[in-house]
Formats: sequence, structure tokens, C-alpha cells
Amino acid sequence: MSAGQAWVAAPGAPLRGRLRVPGDKSVSHRAVMLGALAQGVTRVTGFLEGEDTRATARVFERLGVRIETPSASERIVHGVGLHGLRASAQALDCGNAGTGMRLLAGVLAGQGFDSVLIGDESLSKRPMRRVTEPLAAMGARIDSEPGGLPPLRIHGGRGLHGIDYTLPVASAQVKSALLLAGLYAQGETVVREPHPTRDYTERMLSAFGWPIEFSPGYARLSGGHALRATDVAVPADFSSAAFFLVAASVVPGSELLLEAVGMNPRRTGLLAALRLMGADIAEEHAREEGGEPVADLRVRYAPLHGIEVPEALVPDMIDEFPALFVAAACAQGRSRISGAAELRVKESDRIATMAQGLRIIGAQIEETPDGAIIDGGALRGGSVDSHGDHRIAMSFAVAAQRARDEVRIGDVENVATSFPGFDRLARDCGFELRTAFGL
Ligand code: S3P
Repeated sequence: MSAGQAWVAAPGAPLRGRLRVPGDKSVSHRAVMLGALAQGVTRVTGFLEGEDTRATARVFERLGVRIETPSASERIVHGVGLHGLRASAQALDCGNAGTGMRLLAGVLAGQGFDSVLIGDESLSKRPMRRVTEPLAAMGARIDSEPGGLPPLRIHGGRGLHGIDYTLPVASAQVKSALLLAGLYAQGETVVREPHPTRDYTERMLSAFGWPIEFSPGYARLSGGHALRATDVAVPADFSSAAFFLVAASVVPGSELLLEAVGMNPRRTGLLAALRLMGADIAEEHAREEGGEPVADLRVRYAPLHGIEVPEALVPDMIDEFPALFVAAACAQGRSRISGAAELRVKESDRIATMAQGLRIIGAQIEETPDGAIIDGGALRGGSVDSHGDHRIAMSFAVAAQRARDEVRIGDVENVATSFPGFDRLARDCGFELRTAFGL
């Protein structure tokens, strides 16, 4: 088992209180990117102070963009315009962030200079052909390591042209990379998706004044326009709220109020799945903030039962499966997850890492190529490894609240990529969770 930072989590009190989780990761990445490429000054509020989104901001600083941090969760991005980026003498480090690397590949393919994108150990194992191939079809030249892995060496000055591309897998990252490259392309770029995915890039391009036509599963734009700076208010990240939605649903006596959670319908599949399982989650004060739907979510404990997760929900809850696996392990009866093979190429193989850890703490779980079959029941303690995957670590902290004994969770540093301060917020609402070193 790994050295480094670990958590020791145990069943605590019923979870109580109101909390606001940090800003949305997807929106924060895009706000910095479009702010950098716009003419004028963009103020981003609610920016996620996570390692992933900070890495993206650092990349743009290396590309010559001035970005100020007047206060935590706030960025002032001094846009340089579509053609104002400058070559970086050093490789550009995306850290752990698949979104950062894939979207940047699209932006950098359109520049007049060469760039190299690198990432950490986990990101260096993640597939990039899904972006490099369609970008090559637009005229880009990107060299990768064998197997299409990072680093990506992107050759500038290629003169891109638009394409009409149907994604083989539903991926907002791939769609966004092509749309961003499309800003620099001659003619029209059309992206079609097998299932609609999060549409933040489309919405934000439109808010920055770029003509774009989009509907669920479809987006079309042409090159040759300009982005105009506009302020971005980032909503709280539904994916971070998800851990608390599951925790309060499975710990008897709990009631939590999660404030101002982003409710973009392409993100809230877990809510639908939990409700099918019998969860008690109410949406209060539904409203719009910064062009995105948000609501306060009140979640109370309710006995959950197993379900067959509808495949149509998969893209809308793609980041929430680790948390859902925990809900299923605590539910009565059997749950089946299918159509989710993408989980195998996330920050870790999330089907394998969840199955391995859940088995260690006594759950009945069978892996399938594209999902799992989980029989709910009692959980015991044990030592599990998060494999450096932030969402796996937080999911086991949730599972521990329903376990009989202590759960030790290894390799948790990467929680800071998406949810800095998770452990403090969790303790504040009643989690039993402390930091340890090594296992
Ligand atoms: C993201 C898209 C999803 C998601 C990731 C963020 C985005 O990835 O898992 O956490 O911001 O576009 P895929 O596009 O690979 O499905």
C-alpha cells in the first residue's frame, strides 16, 4: 500500500448542517481559457482553487497571459485576444487534469507556435487519441507517445480547417477541444455526440460573443470571429456536492443543506439515480446564477434500494459513479451499472479501484467490462487504496460513515485537484475523518 497522505475515517454522528462546496471544475477551466483568448478583462468569481484548475491558469501565464488573484476563488484574466498567446520555452504542465490537457490541445493546435503538454503519472496514462485524431483531421500535427499517450507535442502554424465530426464516445472534453480548435479553423466545425454531454463550452463561447449554434448532442461554429471578455460566476460543483448527497442519504438521522449547487441537467444524473433508489433530496430556491441553473439541495437520510441504473443517465453522472457505487453498497438489494466503460479511463480505472476497495470493506461487487453488479449489505473496516484518484478517496470517506470499523484510505493528496478542504467540510458536518501519513 502507498506511503504519503492517508485518511482514517470511521462512522461518525448523523450528518447535519449547511455547506457550500467549492466552484465547478469544468466551468473554472473554461473561464480561464476563454478569458485568456478574449479581448478585454474577465473577472471570474467562485473559481475552484483546485490543483487542476490552477494548473490551467499557470499554463496560460506561461503562454503570456496576466492572471491576478485578488482574493481566494477570484481571478482577473487579462485577455490577449485569439492570436495573442506567446510560445512557452518550457513544457506546459497540466498536472492531473484530463480536461486541461484535452481542451488545451484544441487551443494550441490553432497557434502559430509549437507547444508541449505534459501531465502527472495518472494523466500520462490517459488516452489522447480521442482528441489528437480528430484534430489531425482538422489539419493539426500532434505527436504523442506510443499508444497515443502524453506528452503531446503540438506543432503550430498548421492552418486548420473545420470538420463535421461524430464522436465515437460521449465526451465533453473531446467536443470542447474540437470547438476550441474550430475558433482558429477555416470554415465550419460541427460536432455531433452519441449522447449529449455537458455544454459549458458552448454556453460560455456564446456568452463571450462567439456565434455558435447548439442543442443537446450538437454544436456548430465557424472560425474568424472574436471573443469579448465577460465576467463569469462559477456555480458550486455538483460533482463535489455528490459526496454529501450520498453520505446524508446513507447515514441514519442525517440532514444537510447544500447551498447554490450547479444544476446543469448534463451534470445531475446522480440526483435522478439516487431518487430512483428512494433518496429524499429536495431542490429549494431553484434560480439562475451567471447563466447556469443552481439550487439549494436539502438531503435527508432515507433507506435506499438497489436499481438498474438507466444507461441514458450515464453521461449525466459520469464523474459520480464512485459515489453511486457506495450508495449501491449501502442499499438494500442489487444494483446494476452498465454502459459505463469510460470509467476505466478516468483518473484511475474507477470500476476496478471501486470494486477492489469495496470488496476489502466487505461489499459484494462483481465487475463487468462496462460496469458492475453490487449487492448492498453491511460494511466493515479495512485499508483501501485510492490509487491517487480524488473521487475514489472521497467516496471511501463516505463509505466509512456506514462501516462498522475504521477505514484507512491511502494516497489521498489528489483530493486537492478538485475539492481542496473536503476533509474540513466533511468533519464540520459530522464525518469522522482524520489525516494520517502512510498506511
Ligand atoms: C469534463 C468532461 C468529462 C468529465 C471530466 C470533466 C469536462 O470527461 O469526466 O471530469 O470538463 O469537459 P469526458 O469528456 O472524458 O467524459
